[in-house]
Amino acid sequence: MELPFAESWKIKMVEPITKSTREEREKWLKESHYNVFQLMANQVYIDLLTDSGTGAMSDRQWAALMMGDESYAGSRSFYELKDVITRLTGFDYVIPTHQGRAAENVLFSALVKEGDVVPGNSHFDTTKGHIESRKAMALDCTVDIAKDTQLEAPFKGNVDPAKLEAALEKYADKIPFIIVTITNNTAGGQPVSMENLREVRALADKYGKRVIFDSARFAENAYFIKTREDGYADKTIKEITHEMFDLADGMTMSAKKDGVVNMGGFIATRWEDWYEAAKNFCIPFEGYLTYGGMNGRDMAALAVGLDENTELDNLETRIKQVQYLASLLDEYGIPYQRPAGGHAIFVDASKILTNVPKEEFPAQTLTIELYREAGIRGCEIGYILADRDPITRENRFGGLDLLRLAIPRRTYTDNHMKVIAAALKNVFDRRHEITRGVEIIWEAPLMRHFTVKLRPLG
Ligand code: F0G
Repeated sequence: MELPFAESWKIKMVEPITKSTREEREKWLKESHYNVFQLMANQVYIDLLTDSGTGAMSDRQWAALMMGDESYAGSRSFYELKDVITRLTGFDYVIPTHQGRAAENVLFSALVKEGDVVPGNSHFDTTKGHIESRKAMALDCTVDIAKDTQLEAPFKGNVDPAKLEAALEKYADKIPFIIVTITNNTAGGQPVSMENLREVRALADKYGKRVIFDSARFAENAYFIKTREDGYADKTIKEITHEMFDLADGMTMSAKKDGVVNMGGFIATRWEDWYEAAKNFCIPFEGYLTYGGMNGRDMAALAVGLDENTELDNLETRIKQVQYLASLLDEYGIPYQRPAGGHAIFVDASKILTNVPKEEFPAQTLTIELYREAGIRGCEIGYILADRDPITRENRFGGLDLLRLAIPRRTYTDNHMKVIAAALKNVFDRRHEITRGVEIIWEAPLMRHFTVKLRPLG
């Protein structure tokens, strides 16, 4: 008999989690203005808000933590981290930052100015925020198939080369760089193929532009290239990683994802001029260049995390768990962005809550219903997250309206996946009774989804 697949680790430490009653959850929802970001974590049973900073570190990472060098300047831990990054990516210049958006802030302060246009594939909200707050435009050039959640295609995170070339022609000198997000979080954790990265590189070269990878989930992207793209099955994740970054000029990184640490990020580049320009913003915003917002111990744990998480076993365990959850949703007929993404399942709320008009935010409504049902906290990646158009101030209803169930790394078991699927099925079974959504009663001008206050309608 063939042995079943199992995790590539065993558990050394556990953290209790607690259930709640429906009455309690109703009260907590009201107190949090129907925004799950406002819930206290102990009001949540299974927390799928994000896979960012919520993973479990390994024993080797915890051991590295004890060895951190907390020197203000020239920390050994910085050089250990830099060595790993250079080995993985080929980039010689590294600036640590406290998380991914800080890397964006530092680098974009040097590179983006008013009136610029930054083409890319579904820029993440902080990336878009850091572009738009500089009065520049984030131009989405994702392939159209990403919008068809039911279509099975291996690389729905890709950049559409025709859209990118049109942008390069139209905006020419206004484009400071192209940004490619690997994997494409907003489009459903969908990967970008090596072939597509090569096409982007070729266009960048043709128009004399540089390319940044927003690399939060680069290792998961490499896993999908290995398992889905011709010619990569026999390459190691580290080889594929290097080949990907050979096609870029620099990267911003949220280490809280594929670095498997609770906090951290960095910028890395092959260009001295970018490094010199970014340095000037690192020191005032983040800190001196050999810590830039991180503790020595955190850099030490990150160096190990990056090394471990670019090994196949670890990635396979993770992505197979996400795919297991997807297989349960398939059994129940629940629609999600297909195929399952690397870090999350993105449930297609617009196909489930068909009676809730888009103006009443179906994905947010589904997020609330799932919490109400079982204390499971997902996250709306939809019309609320999309914010308003910076010029017209209209809600942006052009994209997908999804409920993201992000799976933290090495944190929950397959039994938790069963609970999640069953809870969602219960909501799904009563979907036709849900006819009204929510309305916004207060919102911030930018990145509103964190703090938005809502009121249920009907
Ligand atoms: N880029 C991508 C693709 C991301 O997914 C994130 C964060 C960032 C940049 C910003 O990094 O959080 O370290 O400042 N994504 C988290 C999420 C928050 O839940 O998807 P950060």
